[in-house]
Parts: sequence; structure tokens; C-alpha cells
Amino acid sequence: MDNVKIGIIGTGYIGNVHGRIFSGIKGAEIAALFDIVPERAERTSRTIGGKVCGSREELFDHCDAVLVCTPNKTHIEIATDAVDHEKHVFCEKPFAIGTQDAKKLLETAEKGTGVFQVGHNRRFAPAYAKLRSLLQEDEAHSAHVKMNRGELKNPAWTGDVGVTGGFLYETTIHLFDMIRYQFGEIDELVAYGSQHEYPELDEFSIIFKFKNGFHCTFASSSDASWHFPFERIEVFCHHRTIMTQEMEQLIDSRGMDADFETHSYAMTEKEERWGYVQEDQGFIDAIREGKEPRVTALDGFRSVELVESVYNAIKTGRRIRLG
Ligand SMILES: NC(=O)c1ccc[n+]([C@@H]2O[C@H](COP(=O)([O-])OP(=O)(O)OC[C@H]3O[C@@H](n4cnc5c(N)ncnc54)[C@H](O)[C@@H]3O)[C@@H](O)[C@H]2O)c1
Repeated sequence: MDNVKIGIIGTGYIGNVHGRIFSGIKGAEIAALFDIVPERAERTSRTIGGKVCGSREELFDHCDAVLVCTPNKTHIEIATDAVDHEKHVFCEKPFAIGTQDAKKLLETAEKGTGVFQVGHNRRFAPAYAKLRSLLQEDEAHSAHVKMNRGELKNPAWTGDVGVTGGFLYETTIHLFDMIRYQFGEIDELVAYGSQHEYPELDEFSIIFKFKNGFHCTFASSSDASWHFPFERIEVFCHHRTIMTQEMEQLIDSRGMDADFETHSYAMTEKEERWGYVQEDQGFIDAIREGKEPRVTALDGFRSVELVESVYNAIKTGRRIRLG
């Protein structure tokens, strides 16, 4: 099979992360780049190659697979266009903004001829893969999860709710996907939110109940400074706590003798520690082997549904049941 020709739309921060990785994957090649700021695509082309295109249409003419790496609100339009052009699509998170658009994109993706993968990279991070394998062997009872962010200033659009869809669509959505991945489907949730630093809700406390009886608390702040770890999952099992810190470390404390094991991923390159390398390789494998990607359009849809359910719970003061 020929190399999979990759086209990148949006050559900002994450477009370049993926671009560097795909340029090193066997069986893939960077074929085309498009950014509404052409100098950005030109700069990227100088480092990883690829034809700088003047429009999306031109990019579609030169690739088999499209990476949607533009700001959140543009994902639906660009991903829909790529599916309509019969391309494989890797769509950065969030899948879409709002349940209605997410439903529309899900229908489009399911009718499409190619692979559709969503950029929930954390599923591939070694720390979270290890957590999942430990939880396959033991019964987890409950958990305490936090996903903080230091600021909503960089890039500037992350503080603009008209572009992001809201703070929860930024980093928090990654751990909404993660709790489904680790603990199963969610049955209901209650949530409280408040507004402090930014002109939108920016602090959240949530309780999730899962269909299998598992439950967890979840805290997320948008202005917490970069206090380490800003991302942590503590899982409580029978006389056992398993805790992740960022994607750097997993601590497994078993029994009542303060006996614990630490797994460190600090020496792994960031792009692998955060799962980007593995998710990109997984996208190429899914295309070449004609199989379902590890993060599907339905997973993308479910994470949007959770974001919207939390906003809805805060707005109405009600407990929200999921379907
Ligand atoms: N999975 C992750 O860990 C992760 C990390 C960072 C960002 N993201 C997501 O990736 C997306 C991009 O984020 P970023 O940090 O790279 O932003 P960025 O601002 O650094 O880059 C976005 C690029 O898209 C270009 N652009 C904007 N609208 C466009 C359009 N309609 N067509 C073509 N180009 C367009 C901009 O000029 C810019 O170069 C966001 O949705 C973000 O949520 C995911």
C-alpha cells in the first residue's frame, strides 16, 4: 500500500506536534498544509515538508487523510467537509461544540467512507494505559479526579467562549473522556459552577454516578496556576489506592502495610508520555488495516454530551440523567 498522504488544516501548536510525529511514521507522509495565516503553513513546511495550499479544496486534492487542528468552533465545518470529500479524518478535541452539532457530525462520520478518529490523546499515554490495565484486574469503588488549568490566556482564543464553547471544552473534556474510558458509561451527574477570573463559568465541582454503580467526584478550575499535578486521578479499590499524577507518574498503594509501587514516565519524551505518538500511529494503523480507531466519533460525541450535561446541571440546578 502507498504511503498515507496527510493534509494538515491549522498549522499552529498542535498541528505542528502532529506534523512532526507523522513525518516520522513509516507508511505516512506529510503531503499538504493549509492555514488561514499562510506564513504559518510556510513555516511548518520548511521543517516537515508538505505543499502549502491556498485553500481547503486544494489541500483535499493532495491528501488521503486530514488532520483538523484549528480552534474548537471550526471543527464541525472542516471535519464535515473532509468527510464529504471522502477523506480519513483525525479531528482534534473537542469533537464539536453543543449536542446538536455533535449529533450532526456523528451522523456524518458514521456515513463516511474513511476512518474518523478524535484527538483524546490521553487514552494512549502510558500512565493512563497502566491505570486501565490495573483496573482490569481489580474492582474499583470510587475515585477523586481533578483537571485544572493555569490560565485561559495562551493561545488568546482559549479565553473566548465564542471560540472554545466554554472552559470545559478546553482541557477538562480530556478527563471526561478518560473517566468513561477507565470506569464505564455514566448514568447521572450533579454539578455546581461559579465564575471568577473570566467572563464565563470557570470553577466546577461535579459528582458522576456510573451505570455499573461506580461513582466519582471531579473538580476543575481554570485559574489554578500550574501547581503540579494539575491533573490527577485517585482511584479507591479494596484496601488499595491507585493515583496518577499528570502523565508523569502512577503510584499503586496496596494492602494495609503502606506498601506502594511507583511507576515513573518522567524520562519518556513528552510527545510519547502524552500519548500523541501512539494516537498518530494508531490513526495510520486504522487506515492501513481498515479497522476502527481507538477513539471513535461516538467517543467524541459522548465527551461533548458530558460537557453539555454539566452546563445544563448548573443552569437548571437539577440532576441530569444520561441516555
Ligand atoms: N489534544 C491535545 O492535547 C490538544 C492540545 C492543544 C490543542 N488542542 C486542540 O487543537 C485545536 C488547535 O489548538 P492549537 O493550540 O494548536 O491552536 P493554535 O491557535 O496554536 O493553532 C490553530 C491554527 O489554526 C489556524 N486556523 C484558524 N482557523 C482556521 C481555518 N478556518 N482554516 C485553517 N486554519 C485555521 C490558525 O491560524 C492557527 O495557526 C483546538 O481545537 C484545541 O482544543 C488539542
